[in-house]
Amino acid sequence: TQHAERQRILDALRLSREQLMEVKIRMGNEMNRGLAKESHDQAAVKMLPTYVRSTPDGTERGDFLALDLGGTNFRVLLVRVRSGKKRSVEMHNKIYTIPQEAIQGTGEELFDHIVHCIADFLEYMGMKGASLPLGFTFSFPCHQNRLDQGILLKWTKGFKATGCEGEDVVTLLKDAIHRREEFDLDVVAVVNDTVGTMMTCGYEDPLCEVGLIVGTGTNACYMEEMQNVELVDGDEGRMCVNMEWGAFGDHGELDDFCTDFDRAVDDRSTNPGKQRYEKMISGMYLGEIVRNVLLEFTAKGLLFRGKLSERLKTRGIFETKFLSQIESDRLALRQVRSILQHLGLTSSTCDDSILVKEVCSVVARRAAQLCGAGLAAVVDKIRQNRNLDKLKITVGVDGTLYKLHPHFSSIMHETVRDLSPLCEVTFLQSEDGSGKGAALITAVACRIRDAGQ
Ligand code: BG6
Ligand code: GLC
Repeated sequence: TQHAERQRILDALRLSREQLMEVKIRMGNEMNRGLAKESHDQAAVKMLPTYVRSTPDGTERGDFLALDLGGTNFRVLLVRVRSGKKRSVEMHNKIYTIPQEAIQGTGEELFDHIVHCIADFLEYMGMKGASLPLGFTFSFPCHQNRLDQGILLKWTKGFKATGCEGEDVVTLLKDAIHRREEFDLDVVAVVNDTVGTMMTCGYEDPLCEVGLIVGTGTNACYMEEMQNVELVDGDEGRMCVNMEWGAFGDHGELDDFCTDFDRAVDDRSTNPGKQRYEKMISGMYLGEIVRNVLLEFTAKGLLFRGKLSERLKTRGIFETKFLSQIESDRLALRQVRSILQHLGLTSSTCDDSILVKEVCSVVARRAAQLCGAGLAAVVDKIRQNRNLDKLKITVGVDGTLYKLHPHFSSIMHETVRDLSPLCEVTFLQSEDGSGKGAALITAVACRIRDAGQ
């Protein structure tokens, strides 16, 4: 029957508990491989040292600029941090768009545009000519030898400006500032968005030692024991590690869970073969997975009366926000239909609406479970590092998919609880973005630097 046929197709996207446990185990193994010197170069999950050695303690203070590049919005921020009894953080920010030409043009164009936005912001704030220390949230994989350096390993999430990979983004930014000859900036820290989020949440909750992003892309960071961070000398204390877990699967770790739909999405992306785990989880790709499933259903005559419309063949029509809307429990099927109509998929029937909703739900559930399995590996590793029978820990989370999707967060929480029962995990949603965290990191770095002078 048609029903059985549909379910058979969807079954490929359903994961059993055993499979999820396997994902957790493989992620744990990859983490160890990425941390160890001898296997690091071959590891898919890079486990990058960040030179951030502690979470906030409330003594941070000063005025800072922050840049936040790599998510849905590009922001420039002014962050005022007060310490002591009146400890508080005051933020002013402005959102700028990055034109497609800058994302896909030359690195010089991209960084000239960024500097143009900084100049506009300083003017807007009435601070023209001010030279404040700056924290740069740059949400891409960077190799760091110091806090104030970040060599871009690879663009992700559709960015492809030329001449940036292999370069230090601080140098690229400074060069652009010098080209403009208008002001100077003191770039103190390069910070991944996961790290910024962990610090933002850590300001409120000292148990927060993990940062998680589920937005355009997905990634996590956590506080690792220095003795395990083999790429950095020294054995004392801890350091935050930017996992770059989106690349999990790039060496075949997920091959037995991947479907033809995943392969189709990967093939047509700007970075085929890369970020395979991210492409099964994050907002930039889920809609494309759904669209590919719908294409298959239609081709088999199981949907839209078998009529393949040009619209459905168009890449990118299913933005994440539609997935969140379609799955909203308050939505009547009639409204699902009107969303489909809005997408130009006009010939839909009531049955079509039910099926589309089911596809969205299966794809989002798998994403949330895969993400939960990865996170289960992270918290269990921290527990084992500390030789604890029970670990109490907070995960700071940000990202539009996590925040807007009606079921993603609860499915993910449940998966973590199920796969790592010895960890009591609290999830803290970041409301302030990662720019705040970047400013806190910058504050500590400035204090240490000034004390040394
Ligand atoms: C924001 C951070 O809060 O979350 C960004 O400040 C980050 O830097 C983002 O990239 C992730 O969410 P999204 O959904 O915008 O990719
Ligand atoms: C991508 C980036 C990573 C970032 C994540 C979330 O995976 O490579 O650095 O943290 O997206 O924005």
